[in-house]
Amino acid sequence: MNFEKNLTSGLSGIGLESQGCKSRSPVMWIWVFILLCFGMPSFAGGALESEVSATSPADRLESEEMIKAGELTFSQNCTYCHGYKGIGGKARKMQCRDSFTPDYLFTTISNGKQRGSLIMPPWKDSFNEETRWQLVAYILSLKTLPSCSE
Ligand code: HEC
Repeated sequence: MNFEKNLTSGLSGIGLESQGCKSRSPVMWIWVFILLCFGMPSFAGGALESEVSATSPADRLESEEMIKAGELTFSQNCTYCHGYKGIGGKARKMQCRDSFTPDYLFTTISNGKQRGSLIMPPWKDSFNEETRWQLVAYILSLKTLPSCSE
């Protein structure tokens, strides 16, 4: 008796307090039904949407979103050698360089680079392709820094 009382008050929050034990399960099935009807299409819709926007990352190099994501990864992993915003340090400055091509950057980031005793490790095992293209987008964006036109 006491147990049932506790159970009943526990369920009161979801509006089931007046339901007897036997009628609880149909209510549950109605919820399952509602979730299936309204939940599934929105999952499916989400999947469909991301498929539509899944164009090659190389086509989105000027997107603000790519550049922002690249900047975050860069500031966490690359500034140690490349300096804040690619200003240079252990490697050459990457700002204001308009000769960089997307392919060159992508390949270099993926495979690494050595210059004298300075070695950049390959990043292809650390970052997936999408993340590497974000880095490319960010580095390309460094040629349009305000300081480049001074
Ligand atoms: C351990 C130091 C180090 C780290 C960390 C590092 N790099 Fe490098 N990177 C170098 C060196 C050294 C070079 C060769 C520089 C040169 O050629 O003057 C280089 C070259 C590059 C180049 C080619 C630049 C050019 O001038 O041709 C790119 C692009 C690049 N790095 C991107 C990155 C990115 C993106 C990250 C972070 C994921 C990163 N690097 C992290 C050391 C590093």
